[in-house]
Amino acid sequence: MKHTDIYDVINDPAYLNAETVVCGWVRTSRDSKNVAFIALNDGTSHKHLQVVLDKEKFADPSAYLKLGSALRVEGTIVASQGREGGVEMTPSSIEVLGDCPAEYPLQKKRHTLEFLRTIPHLRLRSNTFNAVFRVRSVLAAAIHEFFQSRRYVYVHTPLITASDCEGAGEMFRVTTRPWNDRSATEEEYYKEDFFGQKAGLSVSGQLEGEMAATAFGKIYTFGPSFRAECSNTPRHVAEFWHVEPEIAFAELPDVIEVVESMIKNVVSVALQKCPDELAFFEKNFENGLIEKLNKLVNEKFGVVTYTEAIEILKKADVEFQYPVEWGTDLQTEHERYLAEVAFKKPVFVTDYPKQIKSFYMKQNADGKTVAATDLLAPGVGEIIGGSEREANLDKLLAAMQERNMTIDDYRQYIDLRRFGTVPHGGFGLGFERLIMYVTGIDNIRDVILFPRVVNKIF
Ligand code: 4AD
Ligand code: MG
Repeated sequence: MKHTDIYDVINDPAYLNAETVVCGWVRTSRDSKNVAFIALNDGTSHKHLQVVLDKEKFADPSAYLKLGSALRVEGTIVASQGREGGVEMTPSSIEVLGDCPAEYPLQKKRHTLEFLRTIPHLRLRSNTFNAVFRVRSVLAAAIHEFFQSRRYVYVHTPLITASDCEGAGEMFRVTTRPWNDRSATEEEYYKEDFFGQKAGLSVSGQLEGEMAATAFGKIYTFGPSFRAECSNTPRHVAEFWHVEPEIAFAELPDVIEVVESMIKNVVSVALQKCPDELAFFEKNFENGLIEKLNKLVNEKFGVVTYTEAIEILKKADVEFQYPVEWGTDLQTEHERYLAEVAFKKPVFVTDYPKQIKSFYMKQNADGKTVAATDLLAPGVGEIIGGSEREANLDKLLAAMQERNMTIDDYRQYIDLRRFGTVPHGGFGLGFERLIMYVTGIDNIRDVILFPRVVNKIF
């Protein structure tokens, strides 16, 4: 169907005074005495194209004014009469491609995000979701560009796996066997299963990423990870998109440097490419958003050790719900205090106690902490978790034994420490959490097409 994107019609002066065909859905409409107005949107542009119908030509425009209906409009692009300037369209003919009855749920100008979650298939047609998904797409491309231009190899790690990378017991099981209670042991039960052993959906591509990094030097993954966490919070989903770079010949400070330059780089791309969308979020979701993002691009992130962070939290003039004690994990309230009150910008917390972090992290010389870092962002909390990896075979094995892990399940991973082991490290970015930070939207369910959360598949 030959037509022009509404984005081009609005932004390219070549279309001014030209005969053009556009297609789109009616977002709003208004009928008055001599003219009728249609705001048409085809998804290519945050701004709608205003189509102004002369009632002398279109005596009964009612068929064209129904919200949600799909139209093909032929006409001329002219300078707008309105105060805001820009262009509008004077139609010569209109065709209804798809009628839309009044039961179409998007009738109001602005619906709550809670209501929109009840219509996940239609909410995408609202201004908010148009803006969220354009920013999401631009950020995804920027992440690829960041790594590609630095010679990282994009690898696709398996989604079905036999090993639990994070060891937190949050794996979804993958099975084809119907339920039965005849097997004497778990092993016996899974022997009959598709893979002949227990399998699940991967919580992280890191372990395979390390294998690829010790061959290709620098790699990244960008794909889904799955977590069967029962946390019904505004920042957890069961299926999220995970960016996991892994870098050979790198120590923790190198990892931190990559995180900071990646975040700054992709946020500045969003500032450049999505000005209309960010202005919309600023107006509707987070006052000061654009200034926050500009500041992020230009200011050094904070860095603090876990031990120092505990001191800061202990001195804080706040009643935390969870007590602060060296050795316990930071809760969201603590993370947000550090990022929002203490530093007022993204902050790396480093060198966590080893017992609250994963087996693969490099053990520090103090015998108590590991060379790990979480990046905490104001408004969101943890958006990145990363570390230098334990490259020493004996230390790695000891950490696994302390956690009662089945060493045999990790033979290939352990081999990396036997055959040309090197200092290396990487991190995992929760892509949706980055989008929350960039858009100011405070529920993860509203930055992913169809969220999967505990008790509900939308
Ligand atoms: O901190 P996590 O668990 O770290 C890892 O998986 C490492 N293997 C990463 C690595 O070093 N390669 O997860 C990394 C990030 C978190 O910081 C968070 O942003 C996101 O993944 N994340 C989730 N996002 C949404 N919903 C969930 N349930 C998430 N769990 C983790
Ligand atoms: Mg983490």
